Amino acid sequence: MKNIVILISGRGSNMEAIVRACAAERWPARVAAVVSNRPDAPGLAFAAAQGIATAVLEHGGFAEREAFDAALADLVDSFSPDLVVLAGFMRVLTTGFVERYAGRMLNVHPSLLPSFPGLRTHERALEAGVALHGATVHFVTAQLDHGPIVVQGAMPVRPGDDPAALARRLLAVEHVIYPRAVRWFVEGRLALSGLRVVVTPPEPQWYFSDTNEAAA
Ligand code: GAR
Repeated sequence: MKNIVILISGRGSNMEAIVRACAAERWPARVAAVVSNRPDAPGLAFAAAQGIATAVLEHGGFAEREAFDAALADLVDSFSPDLVVLAGFMRVLTTGFVERYAGRMLNVHPSLLPSFPGLRTHERALEAGVALHGATVHFVTAQLDHGPIVVQGAMPVRPGDDPAALARRLLAVEHVIYPRAVRWFVEGRLALSGLRVVVTPPEPQWYFSDTNEAAA
């Protein structure tokens, strides 16, 4: 049974998708804790209602990024994680934190990396005039939004799309690809070949959504 610790900062809909898939698909894993850097993160209530341990560590209480990350690592480690899942955790992490969880920390980013790392991904995708937008689940490395790619989900940009519409539709894509990536990890099916992530036995490391469905 692998322990998953999920870090959130807000709504926590990806966390919720992972918690639900873990139970429904009977993964060999449990979500041991949900940790937030914001006490008012709406996702905390869902986790608590599921009987999952929750914890809050406010970054405002720390003068230095290193001190916050050290305290965060102590808190995360108290739940003995096999896997750390960043699910809308809106903090840039120090190299020390990233290295501590090397090969066992995943992130979802709302763009088709390596395009549009960083913030405002939907606005920037529209400004660039791309025909496809998407989301990426990747291993976290010291370079922000650049780690080895586990799975990507893509969807067409439609006439009239604004950033909010793209974000809504893309969230439904994230809710498909993030649980898939976490399941592969807890099933012990992910390996690195250079910078490439290999899934064994193979399953598609991409997902394409051509519907108008937004996340619930
Ligand atoms: C998601 O769209 C995720 O891709 C994004 O924040 C949202 C969190 O939603 N993450 C980032 O922008 C990280 N750079 P959620 O709290 O409902 O899962």
